[in-house]
Amino acid sequence: MDQYAVVGFPIGHSMSPSIHQTFAQQTGQSLSYCAIEVKPERFDQALADFFQSGGKGLNCTVPLKELAFEKADQLTERAKFSGAVNTLKQLPDGSLLGDNTDGVGLLTDLSENLGLSLKGMRILVVGAGGAARGILGPLLESGPSELYLANRTVAKAQLMEELFAPIGQIHACEYAALAGKQFDLLINATSASLSGELPPLMDTLLAKGAVCYDLAYSKQPTAFMQWAEAKGAALSVDGLGMLVEQAAHAFNLWRGIMPDSKKVLSELKQGE
Ligand code: ATR
Repeated sequence: MDQYAVVGFPIGHSMSPSIHQTFAQQTGQSLSYCAIEVKPERFDQALADFFQSGGKGLNCTVPLKELAFEKADQLTERAKFSGAVNTLKQLPDGSLLGDNTDGVGLLTDLSENLGLSLKGMRILVVGAGGAARGILGPLLESGPSELYLANRTVAKAQLMEELFAPIGQIHACEYAALAGKQFDLLINATSASLSGELPPLMDTLLAKGAVCYDLAYSKQPTAFMQWAEAKGAALSVDGLGMLVEQAAHAFNLWRGIMPDSKKVLSELKQGE
């Protein structure tokens, strides 16, 4: 049986094994998928052990995505821009292909599950770390009228502006520079939700009908989602849909078949 796994630290609460096992049942693929706790200092050894013992593909999550990027022998174009790899696939010659399906996962959730067209939208992304870098390329390609990137450490946002210039224009800024601006879509790419914190957002940022999306997911609404609801967002969602969709694209890369992600997502939402 072909073996797959997700590696990260911590990994105890990962939903990836149950998502991929459901995909395998749906599509009649015979495979196993488990979660393996791997600390960064053990990543090289864990990778070698996994693929030498017959592993076919790995998902890499926090804090291993940048290390996986370094270890990949070949990279997809979108992984190159992301500077991070969330999916490794062993190719027939034994080399490792690195991909990043986070951005396409977000875009699929926004367009297919939430029914949004990003074309012409005013978009604000807050946070300019690894999570933001994974989504900026696909967001630019979706044709927004403007894309702002705010970060506490503005230099990091400016680096992203330079990096993504070949794809499109990002307006890097600090939070205070958002005064007077309004957005149709606000994406929280900071890690603040993980510690129950909120980025320093002004009250006036939401245009009428604005959608707020937190890349983090949790059983309870995150601080960002609560803020969005209090400020009158038309919709405020967490990153569960993105999680399922990035998994579907990883599954497709490995197995060459696209699972029914919508069914899995609705089952997970019912179980919440
Ligand atoms: P990730 O891979 O999750 O993106 P990261 O690369 O460590 O993690 O980046 C974390 C991001 O969240 C950064 O943009 C960070 O802002 P700084 O670069 O200014 O540190 C942002 N962040 C974390 N906690 C935050 C908070 N409480 N308020 C605002 N931004 C926060």
